[in-house]
Amino acid sequence: MKSYEKLLLENKAWASEKVDTDPEFFNRLAHLQTPEFLWIGCSDSRVPANEITGTQPGEIFVHRNVANMVVHTDLNLLTVLDYAVNHLKVKHVIVCGHYGCGGVIASMTNHNFGIINKWLRNIKDVYRFHREEIDSIQDETTKRDRMVELNVQEQVMNLAKTSIVQKAWAHEQRPHLHGWVYGLKDGLIKPVFEMPAGTHIDPLYEFDDL
Ligand code: CO
Repeated sequence: MKSYEKLLLENKAWASEKVDTDPEFFNRLAHLQTPEFLWIGCSDSRVPANEITGTQPGEIFVHRNVANMVVHTDLNLLTVLDYAVNHLKVKHVIVCGHYGCGGVIASMTNHNFGIINKWLRNIKDVYRFHREEIDSIQDETTKRDRMVELNVQEQVMNLAKTSIVQKAWAHEQRPHLHGWVYGLKDGLIKPVFEMPAGTHIDPLYEFDDL
């Protein structure tokens, strides 16, 4: 059997198991999704949103990219965010990074990755904002781990800088923003940063007439 054929076989088994335990499972989900959470995570295959949070299909709206970035020129991210906030009315947006993130580690080198440089440049900015703290750490792993945490924090702040989030905060007191980091070595998620709905940010980034 070819490797991809196993996926199709496993899918059949999964679908029939779902129906066995809950005959209405697919009928229900086919008509409606009402997730309470938007998950912005890393594309890394070791950090599957549903599996590590014990959630079922229909419970989390998911966007993943390299190093869980919130880049304001990324139409893909903005579309997902707008849809999740304004149509699905999610109550929480979670940015979940992970220790040992290849994107973050790559951004800390001077290696030329070609087209990927442009994406990594956004992570290099995080280093620049926190240069003093990062440079003061001697141990390489500790330094990388801290960069992962600060990157998550900056991406949460990038969410708060969008008119999409600010408008929902002003009118509906949601969504709450959460910055989490997943540990590849122990499977545990550590909350590292939080912005409840309505948090005041640097006035430079606050919009009028929302
Ligand atoms: Co990663």
